[in-house]
Amino acid sequence: MTINRFRMNLTKKINLKTIAMGLTATAFVMGFTSCQEVPNSPGYEFAPDMYRSRALKYYGEYTINNGQDTILMARKPVPGTISRDHLPAIPHGMTYDEAVVLKNPIPHSAEVEKEGEVIYGKFCVHCHGDAGKGDGKVAAKLPGPPPAYDGALKNLPEGKIFYSISNGKGTMGPHALLLSVEERWKLVHYVQKLQGPKTPVTDSAAVAAPVPAATATPAKSAAPKH
Ligand code: HEC
Repeated sequence: MTINRFRMNLTKKINLKTIAMGLTATAFVMGFTSCQEVPNSPGYEFAPDMYRSRALKYYGEYTINNGQDTILMARKPVPGTISRDHLPAIPHGMTYDEAVVLKNPIPHSAEVEKEGEVIYGKFCVHCHGDAGKGDGKVAAKLPGPPPAYDGALKNLPEGKIFYSISNGKGTMGPHALLLSVEERWKLVHYVQKLQGPKTPVTDSAAVAAPVPAATATPAKSAAPKH
């Protein structure tokens, strides 16, 4: 009797152990394979617009009779108009120089700047470097490393920062499809932090040559004319 009970206990123990080991092994294998449905997938979508089109959805709820009734129907948008809340972040056809008019819709706060910093660490730091000096690990491999934010780019206005992040510039690729509009404006706040305080612009000469007055010598500013 006692021996039998001992045997039963032993089998129970072995069974539990085997089950536990089996489960651990399964979890382990799943952990390594579950994210690899398509082994060649890079893990991100290159052009999401191509998979999920921004086709207009005509059919929907509309209010009629001065807001008295709501009915379901199909309506085409008025030609030449854009539906509310669907304004493109950069109007179609806007050039780089025109982008100075774009303003950051997200008010600055320490929290937003921090979020920008996190995105910067994932998408920008390898080229631009921790402090935005243009000395990231990849920078040296580029035909021309990125200019320093607090150097040549010190006075770059927010609209142009947003435009360049979105559409790319030179060897920098466009990020409009990788980052949401909000994420890009948050990044602008962080880039502005790295730019440091802007050089005060007092006259048109200063706009043409964004060299701080203190460091510009007459010899230097005269040189490019010859
Ligand atoms: C592949 C490397 C690379 C990556 C990644 C990259 N940049 Fe750049 N970036 C550059 C280079 C190179 C330039 C200089 C482009 C030029 O003027 O020809 C530049 C220029 C800029 C400028 C100045 C644009 C202007 O209008 O003169 C800003 C602002 C900027 N980058 C921000 C960012 C931010 C923010 C990110 C992250 C989303 C980022 N970059 C990612 C390489 C990169």
